[in-house]
Amino acid sequence: MAKSLSRTAPLIVGNWKTTPATLDEAMKFVKSLDKKCAASKVKLAKKAYYLAVPDIFIPHLKEVAQGYIGSQNVSGSELGQVTGVAIPSQLISGGAAFTLIGHSEVRARGETKEDRARKVALSLQAKLTTILCVGEHTRDKEGKYLALLEEDVRHSLSLVEKSLFEHLVIAYEPVWAIGGTTSATPHESFEVVIALRRALASLVGIDYAKKVHVLYGGTVTEDNAKQFLEEGGVDGLLIGRASQQVDTFYKIISTCATHA
Ligand code: PGA
Repeated sequence: MAKSLSRTAPLIVGNWKTTPATLDEAMKFVKSLDKKCAASKVKLAKKAYYLAVPDIFIPHLKEVAQGYIGSQNVSGSELGQVTGVAIPSQLISGGAAFTLIGHSEVRARGETKEDRARKVALSLQAKLTTILCVGEHTRDKEGKYLALLEEDVRHSLSLVEKSLFEHLVIAYEPVWAIGGTTSATPHESFEVVIALRRALASLVGIDYAKKVHVLYGGTVTEDNAKQFLEEGGVDGLLIGRASQQVDTFYKIISTCATHA
């Protein structure tokens, strides 16, 4: 998925979390969104959006949605005797085009850095486009959080072969900005993106590092979305609440499509 994207096509990813309550509502949502996209005055990409949805919806939405449908997490276990989790090959066979890994809400439920490194390695080995989420809980004046973010990226990718980086996307999501009322500023995003690319370059060299798409997430709205693309140094957005309403998600998709 990410491989086929040009750097000029913003990657707009919705994170539905545990919404909506039923498959029926989910189907109505994507049908309505697709209708709006089809009628858009702005020229949109053929697949104009990505939606990380509850796993159970993936095979159904994949059949009707004109966007890419993906998962919000994977298991770091191999095929076998582990209860209650889906592994990357199962998600792919059910229709997932991508997955998130390391979202702060998954980390908060006990995901360790070792879990994350295994999940990322298995997901990329399966060639499932992987959006690795990283973000600081708080900021300090000395900028130590930048070193911690770089270390997080290096550790999460420590088991991955260089050739698989083409399936990787990184989402910068400051934890303090998720689910709140204040986003980071585009300037703050820009500074972190440089640090993230530095970490990638230390693993695979600058040429590969430059090609990895980086997203910003955390209180993205229809008012600030385009600014992140223009000034925040990112190639796309990871959007929680604003992707859970058809109208706001469509507005973000169409506003961002005019960003070249
Ligand atoms: P938010 O969530 O846009 O509602 O802040 C972002 C996320 O959790 O990915």
